Amino acid sequence: MNLLEQIKSKAKQHNMRIVLPEGTEERTLKAANEILKEGIARIILIGKKDKILQLASEYNLGAIKGSTIIDPDQHGKMEEYVSLMVELRKHKGLTSDAALELIKDPLYLGTMMIKAGDADGEVAGAMNATGDVLRPAFQFVKTLPGITVVSGAFIMIMKDKEFGENGLLVFADCAVHPDPDERELAEIAVATAKTTKAIAGFEPRIAMLSFSTKGSAQHELVDKVVNATRIAKEMNPDLKIDGELQADAAIIESIGIKKAPGSEIAGKANVLIFPSLDVGNIAYKLVQRLAHAEAIGPVLQGMAAPINDLSRGCSVSDIVNLVAITANQAYGER
Ligand code: ACO
Repeated sequence: MNLLEQIKSKAKQHNMRIVLPEGTEERTLKAANEILKEGIARIILIGKKDKILQLASEYNLGAIKGSTIIDPDQHGKMEEYVSLMVELRKHKGLTSDAALELIKDPLYLGTMMIKAGDADGEVAGAMNATGDVLRPAFQFVKTLPGITVVSGAFIMIMKDKEFGENGLLVFADCAVHPDPDERELAEIAVATAKTTKAIAGFEPRIAMLSFSTKGSAQHELVDKVVNATRIAKEMNPDLKIDGELQADAAIIESIGIKKAPGSEIAGKANVLIFPSLDVGNIAYKLVQRLAHAEAIGPVLQGMAAPINDLSRGCSVSDIVNLVAITANQAYGER
C-alpha cells in the first residue's frame, strides 16, 4: 500500500465529519461523491440544496445524497453561531450585525461549524484564495496551545528513494507564514514533527536549513536558525533536530559527515525546515518540477482544528486526498 492509500485507509476507520464550504463547485462535488462512495469521511456540503442536488444529478453523482447539506442563508444554527462569533471577537469590536453578515459566507460558516463542534475538519480553496480560507480559521479556530503560528507542510514523494525516509521528505513552511522569527521557526519545527508522525507515518529527523553549516558563515540570518533549533529542543527535548545545516549537509550522508561530524541528523534528515516562506515555497515547487516529485499538501499545522487549503488549480483527486489527510488530523487531535 502506498502512502496515500494508507492515509485513505486510516481515514475510513475514523469516519470524521468534513465540511466542504464550496458545495456547488464541480471538482468539490465530484470529490465529495468519491469520498462518500469509498467511505473516507462523512461530508457536509455548504450551498443551496436545490442547486447541489441539481448539479449532482447533472454530473451523475449518486452518492451526494448521503451528504449533509447546509444552506448558508437559512439553517437552524445561525443565531448560535453569531453569538459564538461575537463572544470570541468582541475584544476586536465584532458586533452581532457584522457577525450575521460574516456567517452567510460559507468559509466563515464552515469554520464556525468546527468551532461549535458540528464538524471535525474543513477543506476549501478550490475557488477561494489562501488568505480567504485561512482568515476565518485564524480569527475563530486559532492555534493549538503553545503554538502561535500556523504553517503549511508538504510531504514530498521523491522518485529517488535514496533521500529522506525511503524517498519521503517533509518540507515546511511552504505555504503560510512569510517571515517567521526564531520562536516561530521553532514552533514550525515542532508542529512539523507532529505532522510527520501523524500523516507521513515515520519518526522525524529534522534539519533546520540555512546557507551555513555549523558556523561556516556568520550572519544574523544564521543566528536565527541556530536559536530556533535551541528553542525547538527546549519546547520538545525528545525532538531529533539539528541546525544550522545546509541542504546538502542535511540530506547527503557523505557531505553531512564532512560538514557536520557527529551530528545524528546531518546526511539523514527526513524533515527540512526552511528559514522563511520564500525559501520553502520556492524549494518545494522546484523539487516538484525539476525532480518530478509528488507534493502532497499543504497540510496546515498548528491550528486548533484541521482546516486545509486547496490550490485553485486542484484536481478531484487532490481534494479527495486532502479530505483524507484532514480526517486523519481531526482524529489525531480528538
Ligand atoms: N498563524 C496564526 N495566526 C495568524 C497567522 C499565522 N501564520 N497569520 C496571521 N494570523 C492571525 C493574526 O494574528 C490575526 O489574528 P487577530 O485578527 O485575532 O488579531 C489574523 O490572523 C489576521 O492577521 P493579518 O496579519 O491581518 O493576516 P492576513 O489575513 O492579512 O494574512 C495570510 C494572513 C493571508 C495567511 C498571509 O500571511 C499570507 O498571505 N500568507 C501567504 C499565503 C500564500 O500566499 N502562500 C503561498 C501560496 S500557497 C502555495 O503555494 C501552496
